[in-house]
Amino acid sequence: MFVNSGSSANLVTMSALRALRGPGKIIVPTLTWVSDIASVLQAGFEPVFVDIDPRTLGMNTRQVVDLLDDDVKAVFLTHILGYNALDDFLLETLAQRGIPLIEDVCESHGATHRGRKLGSLGYASNFSFYYAHHMSTIEGGIVCTNDEEFYETVRMFRAHGMVREMKSAERKKAIAAKHPDLNPDFIFAYPAYNMRSTEINAVLGRNQLQRLDENNRRRQRNLEIFLKHLDSRLYRTDFAMEGQCNYAFTLVLNQPDEALRDRVQNALRSAKVEFRRGASGGGNQLRQPYLRQRLPKVRPEDYPQVDHVHFYGFYLGNYPALEPGRIQQLCALLNHV
Ligand SMILES: Cc1ncc(COP(=O)(O)O)c(C=O)c1O
Repeated sequence: MFVNSGSSANLVTMSALRALRGPGKIIVPTLTWVSDIASVLQAGFEPVFVDIDPRTLGMNTRQVVDLLDDDVKAVFLTHILGYNALDDFLLETLAQRGIPLIEDVCESHGATHRGRKLGSLGYASNFSFYYAHHMSTIEGGIVCTNDEEFYETVRMFRAHGMVREMKSAERKKAIAAKHPDLNPDFIFAYPAYNMRSTEINAVLGRNQLQRLDENNRRRQRNLEIFLKHLDSRLYRTDFAMEGQCNYAFTLVLNQPDEALRDRVQNALRSAKVEFRRGASGGGNQLRQPYLRQRLPKVRPEDYPQVDHVHFYGFYLGNYPALEPGRIQQLCALLNHV
């Protein structure tokens, strides 16, 4: 279901989940985008945090499983910068316990787990078409699911909570029958939002889709070249590469070395290479004011792996037209700071 942003996809997903499954806890990553956690709070859930796995930058799946209990309504996992954050242990445990997995694939279009596209393994999945990502509708997002009830519910949440937004004539009729005092065209089932996009944005997206696979192959090759030429004595090069599909190179120092970090930043600035510190989403979300104010007892430093990426991690743009020679030049710059 097409919406006007990846953040809207997150919000309608969490809102529909709350409407269908009631209140409870949602397990979320500490490295993600703000709207993954904001949507959990806005929908009235309690977020429960886990540290990251340094090789995938996704959630530490062992910690996720240790936190599962009867109050957990979903695991809302983010695939960071093109790396697959899933493993079979997590998938099997969630399936056994009947806990839905929601995948945020906004940063990882086209990445795979055992050959299956990410976003097709969970109960629902969210994508963003913001212009920095693998494909763009200028602004835009999408919610994917195979669950009919969930699909109908997110359709309503996208457009004012209106019952007529559902696809199923039977479902619409059943609700209208319960409200004989209302015009069936204007039954508002939920206090919801307007998060529709437009046909114009959809045309852009359908056009971009035709080039997505080819562009992704180039991006995959580019990351391989980048990590192969980077000095593994200074930087992490042991990321989980199987199925990766990124739009940005991950650059994470091996050691918490502030002098090296400053030299890296200065060298990149002097060479006019754009970068973001903290890797995805501004780093450890627990350090951000929107969470510190709300959850004063949660201590960011209790999550050391994400804190390392927060202070000593970066991402740099990776685009399909980037030539191998220029990637090697970039690595030479980074290896000799
Ligand atoms: C992991 C993740 N989820 C959600 C979003 C939100 O997407 P949008 O910018 O389309 O609202 C982003 C970033 O843009 C993101 O990186």
